[in-house]
Amino acid sequence: MNPAGTGARRVQGHTVNDQTGELPGRGHIEIDGLTKTFASDAGDITAIEGIDFDIAPREFVGIVGPSGCGKSTLLRCVGGLIAPSTGEVRIGGEVVTTPDRRIGYVFQKAVLLPWRRVLDNVMLPFEVMRRPTEEDRRKAHEVLEMVGLAEYLQHRPGELSGGMQQRVSVARALAVEPSILLMDEPFGALDAQTRDLMNLELLRIWQESQTTVVFVTHDIGEALFLSDRVMVMSARPGGVQDVIDVDLERPRTFEQVEADERFWSLRQRIREQLE
Ligand SMILES: Nc1ncnc2c1ncn2[C@@H]1O[C@H](COP(=O)(O)OP(=O)(O)O)[C@@H](O)[C@H]1O
Ligand SMILES: [Mg+2]
Repeated sequence: MNPAGTGARRVQGHTVNDQTGELPGRGHIEIDGLTKTFASDAGDITAIEGIDFDIAPREFVGIVGPSGCGKSTLLRCVGGLIAPSTGEVRIGGEVVTTPDRRIGYVFQKAVLLPWRRVLDNVMLPFEVMRRPTEEDRRKAHEVLEMVGLAEYLQHRPGELSGGMQQRVSVARALAVEPSILLMDEPFGALDAQTRDLMNLELLRIWQESQTTVVFVTHDIGEALFLSDRVMVMSARPGGVQDVIDVDLERPRTFEQVEADERFWSLRQRIREQLE
């Protein structure tokens, strides 16, 4: 059966695209009344409270907020790494309960297997899914080239700088072409020049793909440069303080954005809220 004439077929009640194996609508994230409380010796800590937010497929959403306001907690709930206390997250209409291989995750600090070479670290998600194909290997090479590490395929993580290790993490997350990419201050530890390159590269990849990106950063300029919308979170317990539409044309360049009055006024608006 081929309902749309697009190479799609029905599997367990879902329409699956034969080319990508993706479920349509997977990139749609609904956050509904999300609250997370942690138990601690000093009593319970409510990290985030009553967050309602809807992210469209293919949207690029930035999240900024003061340190400790629950940005990472929010992202972990979206990625199914931790369970909400109340409320829920739905992806493509399904409640998130566990991590999903169709969600890519990049943490602040690279999480790599030290005994595996760079290429084998990037191959790991494929190995978890299936017996890797030639196409998977080609993809792994491609993403490593994209992040500027083509010369380091056979190095071990310990032989690379922190910034290079982080680029391996980004490559690994991108290799499987995830429907959703969750990034938690991924470029915070990179030098300014590498970070600018990674920002441009990320936008290029995002524009060419079907990926929804949720990008946490403490850098307001970075959030505005990258995002369609920026969520500003209030101090703990974190909630949605403001949502900003970034109506800057794409594709964006640093020169263009920095010459744009709207960028500076949005930056000022967010700054005032974070003071
Ligand atoms: N696993 C945990 N156990 C207890 N408290 C936690 C845990 N994770 C986060 N917290 C607390 O929740 C609050 C929000 O943390 P986090 O989400 O890491 O903030 P952010 O990423 O915005 O800096 C902080 O007060 C933090 O100490
Ligand atoms: Mg954090």
